[in-house]
Amino acid sequence: MLTILLLASALLVAFKTFQFLHQTYHDRKTAKALGCQPPPAIPTGPLGIPGFLRMLTAVKEKRWVEYISQFYETFGHTFTQVSIGGVEMYGTAEPENIKALLATQFQDFGLGSRHREFFPLLGNGIFTLDGAGWTHARGLLRPQFTRDQVADLDLMDGHVARMIDLIPQDGSSFDIQRLFFLLTIDSATHFLFGESVGSMGSSDASILEKTAVGDAQGFADAFNTAQEYLAARSRALGFYWLINPKEFREANRRVHEVVDHYVRRALESKRHPEKQSGRYIFAEALAADNDDPRVLRDNMLNILLAGRDTTASLLSSSFFYLARHPAVWTKLRRAVVGEFGDATHPIGDITHARLKDLRDLRHFLNEVLRLQPPVPLNFRVAQKDTSLPVGGGPDGKSPVYVRKGQLVTYSVYAMHRRTDFYGPDAHEFRPERWEENSKRGWEYLPFNGGPRICLGQQYALTEASFTLVKLLQRFDRLENAGPASDRPVIQCTLTMSHDAGVPVRLFSSV
Ligand code: HEM
Repeated sequence: MLTILLLASALLVAFKTFQFLHQTYHDRKTAKALGCQPPPAIPTGPLGIPGFLRMLTAVKEKRWVEYISQFYETFGHTFTQVSIGGVEMYGTAEPENIKALLATQFQDFGLGSRHREFFPLLGNGIFTLDGAGWTHARGLLRPQFTRDQVADLDLMDGHVARMIDLIPQDGSSFDIQRLFFLLTIDSATHFLFGESVGSMGSSDASILEKTAVGDAQGFADAFNTAQEYLAARSRALGFYWLINPKEFREANRRVHEVVDHYVRRALESKRHPEKQSGRYIFAEALAADNDDPRVLRDNMLNILLAGRDTTASLLSSSFFYLARHPAVWTKLRRAVVGEFGDATHPIGDITHARLKDLRDLRHFLNEVLRLQPPVPLNFRVAQKDTSLPVGGGPDGKSPVYVRKGQLVTYSVYAMHRRTDFYGPDAHEFRPERWEENSKRGWEYLPFNGGPRICLGQQYALTEASFTLVKLLQRFDRLENAGPASDRPVIQCTLTMSHDAGVPVRLFSSV
């Protein structure tokens, strides 16, 4: 028996060695044929374990995004590293490489392991699917984002007014980030599902109160907890399945329960088309396309994830900087009041076109999205043996070989802070830089690029612009009630938020 076991082990070792040598030979040959050279390697220790543990410490200390960004400063704009389990992966903050990943070599790369890592919360939807499933999901969503739909500011007006009512009028400090998360969940559910979840309260009872999450905080907590686990599963690479505790399963269940309300509503409205509003409502379009409640839930949840956190993150970072840069607040307020008047003396209607034309507001938002992109880190996986255009060899100018199945992470956060693109003050918040150069290419990428470019870009910018205008019209003074430093502590799951919130004080004499 022992002899058989020894023989089997020896055969297995021999087979694995052969497989490894064969793969290495194949990789060398293909890399040579493609003219590739290796990029610098980050030392991560045996099997990548010490490096992985260092990363976990950075995550725990809310330094993950910065920690990765420092690799780029130390090792250059493209590097390789061995992560947990000996998995060799790449990191890049090189526009040419990111363009290849997302656009020019779109067919060579996919979402890879994202589906299995995110599945318990998101199922099969636009954020987890590749190929035909993704094409179908995107096709169903596209009509939701036509110009007419996106320009419908009446829909947003009520939600923003409700939010302004919740701001303390006596100048006491409050966390404006919390309000932005409530605003975006209310407006996104209204826009996409035809009925607001009502997290800021309204004359009707909130939908949330009828579910296990109870209230807006309960829903936000469940959604955040679930996303923290998704990010942890993503970092664990091949060991993602080990991260599936009761807390995660419970958070998923609570989020699903809220979305299932909308699923029932959409299926109901399919049976009573006379009750439909006439506006394109994604939830209704989904129900017309499919009767399966699980399919509806997955698709709705995917878009809810996109619509809530990202815009809330942009608005929160906007106030983070405004509270710390009084000159920027004054300049922006002057531009807004000059164009639209203040809350007591408004000038004309706030329209999509007028918002887009307000140059100072555009430059301000560009700068916030540059320094605090709501999706700071992302990745793609090679679907075949291929290469990236640059980063290899001593001068970093040779292509880099990427084996089928290999992971390429990219940091928009690090790329947006490159001094060779943005000058020596790249780390400083300075909206005026957009007056000097407003044309940017792939080195500026808050909304992604290529066929999977963000579908909600115009909607998000309109919502953020409208909200900012309304706040600037209503309040003439803003004070920072948080730490003075303008380097925020970032909490990053799939999107980024401010770990300690964004405490401010707002005053109005209008
Ligand atoms: C400031 C706000 C926003 C930012 C910075 C942002 C950024 C992004 C980024 C970086 C991606 C690419 C994700 C990936 O491929 O891995 C993305 C995708 C997407 N975004 Fe946004 N987003 C924002 C707001 C929104 C809003 C409000 C919606 C919808 C209501 C939305 C809908 C989508 C959808 C559907 C996708 C998936 C596209 C696809 O895979 O085909 N986004 N967004």
